[in-house]
Amino acid sequence: MKLLIGVSIPVIVYLLSYGDPSVGAILPDHNQDHTAKVSCSVEKLMRSSESLYIGNGDARSVLRLEFQLSELTSNLSSFDFRTFDPEGIIFYGDVGRDNWFVLGVRDSRLEVQMSNGNGQMVLSKWGPNVSDGQWRKVTVDSTINTIDVRVNGEVVVMLTYHVNNGQGSPSYSTLGIVLGDLPPGSDVQLLRPLVPALDGCLRNWAWVKKNTEVLDSAMETDENRRCFQNEEPGAFFPAHGYATFKPAVFSTKDKDSWTFRLQLSFRVLEDGGIVLGLFGAGNISALTITLDLEKQVLEVSLLGKLAHSLKFPPGVCLKHWQTVDVVIQSNQVVLSTTEASSSMDILPADFKALEDIWLDPDSHISIGGTSEQAEPGARFSGCLKITLQGTAVELDSAQYKHPLIHSHSCPLAI
Ligand SMILES: *[C@@H]1O[C@H](CO)[C@@H](O)[C@H](O)[C@H]1NC(C)=O
Ligand SMILES: *[C@@H]1O[C@H](CO)[C@@H](O)[C@H](O)[C@H]1NC(C)=O
Ligand SMILES: *[C@@H]1O[C@H](CO)[C@@H](O)[C@H](O)[C@H]1NC(C)=O
Repeated sequence: MKLLIGVSIPVIVYLLSYGDPSVGAILPDHNQDHTAKVSCSVEKLMRSSESLYIGNGDARSVLRLEFQLSELTSNLSSFDFRTFDPEGIIFYGDVGRDNWFVLGVRDSRLEVQMSNGNGQMVLSKWGPNVSDGQWRKVTVDSTINTIDVRVNGEVVVMLTYHVNNGQGSPSYSTLGIVLGDLPPGSDVQLLRPLVPALDGCLRNWAWVKKNTEVLDSAMETDENRRCFQNEEPGAFFPAHGYATFKPAVFSTKDKDSWTFRLQLSFRVLEDGGIVLGLFGAGNISALTITLDLEKQVLEVSLLGKLAHSLKFPPGVCLKHWQTVDVVIQSNQVVLSTTEASSSMDILPADFKALEDIWLDPDSHISIGGTSEQAEPGARFSGCLKITLQGTAVELDSAQYKHPLIHSHSCPLAI
């Protein structure tokens, strides 16, 4: 049932009366139909002591293993792997500069890229869809002229290639392995580029049957290297995390009548705060969408002035997924949920200013917070799924992304 309330009082009157509980409450109270109480307190998120987070937001903390070739008795590596990310690098291995191997994910399926003295190759889209958040056992084995990749015991890549004798890689002595990325600062040119950072987890690993204390100690010293026990799709923003984009990434084809359209799904973990902002040159705040957890209100501010807000009734738990559609048109802001919709008039001049800032190449969109956000109580911490101007926001293509943001996974309390 859609409930459309047109409010035609000028914005300024609304602002003066803000705080009056009768204004802005647009959702019907659910308490009557949902008498069974849903607990809104979320238990602490559990990190696993045995699964390693391989996402690499920061080049300084990339996980790297090194082995002396002379000490290796096997090239067999195996691990359990879990991800929701459709694209990225699981690991990169090399013996010398031009002899490298990459196991990655593209379009949710495994991909092998390699380069050696005999040439280069890409084997794309093998095996099952691995981006469904299920644990799978992956094994990779190689000899001088074969490669064999298995998922849950089933062969997905088996390759034999010709080797030019006498043109091997004689003088290199180490096997280097980098998890979740290419070596930082390297000039390795993948044959088909991959968005490198993979938001994924490994456990029960055995790398060429050798000790891997580096990985154990990374998990001991940095809790962010331990995966959350349970996860679901979504993007995870810790309290300090935000990502920025240029508005042009979300350009709409229909240039004649520009409209701002946002579908915002969120789940709060610790705190509310700014979930999305549009800032012009000099950081002029054109638009901010803020979640106030204490007041249970989502506020939309235009040019620093409150333009509309949506109050969630007490029965609605913001620690569970909520979806709100925000549409800003030439003369109004419309906020809708599946239950209700309400609009508030805005000044056409404010809309024009918003449109101009959106179209300005010096502007930026900030998601999950902003760099300026000072008060610790007002930093959004939670999970987001955002569609902006009809395009799903892909955090791996952000201009800036805080290193602790998980682009495709969102922790679940047990
Ligand atoms: C892979 O599986 C996930 C989860 O079921 C699904 O969302 C995604 O669309 C699938 N990807 C492809 C390419 O089929
Ligand atoms: C491991 O791979 C290297 C490089 O391809 C090869 O020279 C070596 O023979 C392999 N070792 C085993 C045990 O297959
Ligand atoms: C504007 O914000 C950016 C990041 O969002 C920051 O780096 C920059 O210093 C700010 N500029 C001004 C003039 O405040």
